[in-house]
Amino acid sequence: MCFTKRDLRYVGMQAQNSWDFLTYENIKNLVLITNNSVDSLCRLKRLRSSKRNRNSLKVTKIIIGVGERYKRLRFFIGILKALLYEELNRDTKVVSFGGGVLGDIAGFIASCYMRSVKLIHIPTTLLAQVDSSIGGKNGLNTAFGKNLVGALHMPGRVILDISNLSTLSQREWVSGLAEVIKIGAALDGDYFKWLEKVMFNILDRKMSVVIGMIKHACLLKLNVTTSDSREIGVRSVLNFGHTFGHAIESYLSYQKWLHGEAVSCGMVIASDISFRLGLVELSVHRRLIRLLSICRLPIYMPSGLKVESYLKALSVDKKSINGLERACNVVLIKGLGQGLILTVSASSLESLILRNRTVGYKAVENI
Ligand SMILES: NC(=O)c1ccc[n+]([C@@H]2O[C@H](COP(=O)([O-])OP(=O)(O)OC[C@H]3O[C@@H](n4cnc5c(N)ncnc54)[C@H](O)[C@@H]3O)[C@@H](O)[C@H]2O)c1
Repeated sequence: MCFTKRDLRYVGMQAQNSWDFLTYENIKNLVLITNNSVDSLCRLKRLRSSKRNRNSLKVTKIIIGVGERYKRLRFFIGILKALLYEELNRDTKVVSFGGGVLGDIAGFIASCYMRSVKLIHIPTTLLAQVDSSIGGKNGLNTAFGKNLVGALHMPGRVILDISNLSTLSQREWVSGLAEVIKIGAALDGDYFKWLEKVMFNILDRKMSVVIGMIKHACLLKLNVTTSDSREIGVRSVLNFGHTFGHAIESYLSYQKWLHGEAVSCGMVIASDISFRLGLVELSVHRRLIRLLSICRLPIYMPSGLKVESYLKALSVDKKSINGLERACNVVLIKGLGQGLILTVSASSLESLILRNRTVGYKAVENI
């Protein structure tokens, strides 16, 4: 299914909100997947009482618990069983209302139920609005790692309601900013420079600036994901900081750090490696660290995390890539907004990561 600019809807700030928008969709069976923390923001009554839907709309509401630990097969199977029990047919539309965790679960449910049904995302975190709701990826975590089970299933619509973000904690807000900074650092240098200028306004949530930031990030992600929907080329650069970040999240059992916080530290590691390999100037590396620090995002690895954990997350095994034994592909940068994939041997990577932890930060601490 093709998802275009027209399938993105920006709402909020006005009388209309995401639920009004949903009334325009022709829905007979709606499965709303949400969680305890955002359930109070749901405006189901508004939807049910709209002229179009009166008498005809069947809503199955599924409320799950809060947090990354619900992105697991156990809960996924529980939801599928609930839908089967309700005898919902292929006309069903799955609507996710919440952050990236919910979007990932709902997306996978929509891709599997009745061999796929339609999906609408109403993302309620900054991270989900600028990143996870766009591109059609979904996934569950297993004991073997993060997002290892999932599918590619494009949403038919993404409704970006800025007003939903008003209840978001500052920590969650900043976690979402890590993905915004990633998009600038790996894809669009001018956007990165703009972020450097307006970051204090963004941290204060000045809405006129925030709307511009979200729209630009969404369009950039949309362009990349439509040109490479299966992530075999340019889209991979959007994983900048993610593999190292996933190692951190897994090491901390998905509990202590938020996703964006782990990605922030992962970007610092990847940018440090880029600098040590001579791909970027130290000044670029410093600018990335400065922007992350202004947001108070983590730039130091959590103590105790062994280098082997990073190599495991990078799937370094016995395989050889491009003729290099025990090698892996890493997303690095060769300039602001210029992500690239490089094959690096495990031994070089190991020493690069180790140097990063011991002396790497000394060089950049005095920024
Ligand atoms: N599929 C993709 O392409 C993709 C991309 C990036 C990240 N992800 C995934 O997204 C997840 C992280 O998403 P997230 O940061 O949105 O975390 P999240 O979904 O856990 O939401 C963060 C917290 O904020 C709460 N919340 C949500 N909206 C709120 C609101 N409006 N007001 C108050 N509280 C609210 C949630 O209940 C939760 O407690 C990770 O699992 C990550 O792997 C997926």
